[in-house]
Amino acid sequence: MPEAVDLNKERAIQNIHTDIMYPWEGKAPVVRRVEKADFNRVMCIEEACFPGALGYPRKQMYYLMFRASSLSLVEECEGIVTGYVIALFRKDRKIAGIETIGVDPQYRRTGTGLRLLCAAEAEMVSRGISLSTLEVSVGNHSALNLYNKAGYSPVRIIENFYRFEHEGTRTAYRMAKHLRAQEGLK
Ligand SMILES: CC(C)(COP(=O)(O)OP(=O)(O)OC[C@H]1O[C@@H](n2cnc3c(N)ncnc32)[C@H](O)[C@@H]1OP(=O)(O)O)[C@@H](O)C(=O)NCCC(=O)NCCS
Repeated sequence: MPEAVDLNKERAIQNIHTDIMYPWEGKAPVVRRVEKADFNRVMCIEEACFPGALGYPRKQMYYLMFRASSLSLVEECEGIVTGYVIALFRKDRKIAGIETIGVDPQYRRTGTGLRLLCAAEAEMVSRGISLSTLEVSVGNHSALNLYNKAGYSPVRIIENFYRFEHEGTRTAYRMAKHLRAQEGLK
């Protein structure tokens, strides 16, 4: 049975883009829930972001997006999906995690990552989540800058977090952000 859509939440997500600067001419991008038809395109972006063994295999990605207790969003601009984010929720917990986020290399540095993150946080808040956490390689400077800019702080260093080296290291920061009611709508 298809998941019932809460129109108020949909509206909150659709409106996110309006407040974060979009540098191009033309139609503004929209952050929306992923659909099954997006899957191949999302996998292309995933493979560009995390080459070879670093990325999720298709089966696992499909599970995360469509079967797990997750929120999966994509940004679409003029018919092209430019990036995705997956957040995972745990039953009866006020903590949710950003599992993965990726932006097509051709569309980076145009605010897509930040808009996706903000949209995921807005949905977390609407579900009563008060803390968002994530792990990131200590060598992944673009992602670290993104998370810093979004208000995340490192709370722990985890040695050997990754099976394979990400950006030259297997060590990760766990980062966290306390969410407030207006999150994602600034
Ligand atoms: C990390 C990633 C998602 C950022 O996406 P993006 O759409 O380019 O990010 P944004 O345009 O929203 O950038 C927001 C801020 O992040 C920081 N940032 C993003 N890319 C950066 C880069 N290459 N170098 C330095 N800072 C960067 C900047 O502070 C930027 O703000 P600014 O452009 O005003 O300076 C993207 O680089 C990516 O997909 N990387 C590969 C996958 C990955 O590492 N995911 C994270 C795993 S934990």
